[in-house]
Amino acid sequence: MRRKKIAAGNWKMNTTVPEGVKIVQDLGEGSFDISVDIVICAPATHLDALNQLELPKNILFGAQNMYHETHGAYTGEIGAPMLQSIGITHVILGHSERREYFNESNEMLGKKLRTALDHELIPIFCCGESLAVRNAGAQNNHVIRQLKESFGDLEGSEIAEIIIAYEPIWAIGTGETATPEQAQEMHCDIREFLRSEYGSDVADYVPILYGGSVKPANAKDIFAQEDVDGGLVGGASLKVDSFAAIVNSF
Ligand code: PGA
Repeated sequence: MRRKKIAAGNWKMNTTVPEGVKIVQDLGEGSFDISVDIVICAPATHLDALNQLELPKNILFGAQNMYHETHGAYTGEIGAPMLQSIGITHVILGHSERREYFNESNEMLGKKLRTALDHELIPIFCCGESLAVRNAGAQNNHVIRQLKESFGDLEGSEIAEIIIAYEPIWAIGTGETATPEQAQEMHCDIREFLRSEYGSDVADYVPILYGGSVKPANAKDIFAQEDVDGGLVGGASLKVDSFAAIVNSF
């Protein structure tokens, strides 16, 4: 079975609700290959309004983060049941900005994965190395360690519910992209890790997205790689024309 093709947009902390609604409405008027899942990861304040818009079935919504506890005295946090209660299907976990600015560790992300899966949210689990790690040639070990430490004792059937996003930190928001060959090399390694730990059915099923300065000019070459199943797109997902062009790059 061919893996799902996914174009996910990570809006980060951008747009007001009316601006976000406009982007999604305009996107909904575009013509896309319906076999591509379009997952808009908007700020939490936007999700309910966006999810109530009349849209093609392949436009889905995700949160950018959630807490590992489901409820309680955690001021400012958002729990999985809250996302579930407004029909949200996806959640980004472990984005490098969360790891860096909010000290999210592999261990904490393991707890978040557990909670998301328990609430039928599809995690878009981010991994990726810094420039220093890449310059030291240690990127593959680094990324596999991130996955190992967060996946913990999750079962293969649970891993099969996850979407992995490989996002080299040096390529995020910098305009510098991994070459298609660099992306393929890492994606292939991630898939081989999945194969050795969870078997071929899981390895061949889990979508692995590339993220880091994906734009219309480079999406086609990156998406054409054997083990690249789509993209997690930041800046270029905020403009309808560029995101639509990326969605149509498969
Ligand atoms: P970028 O962001 O496309 O703006 O580089 C990607 C991301 O951080 O998910």
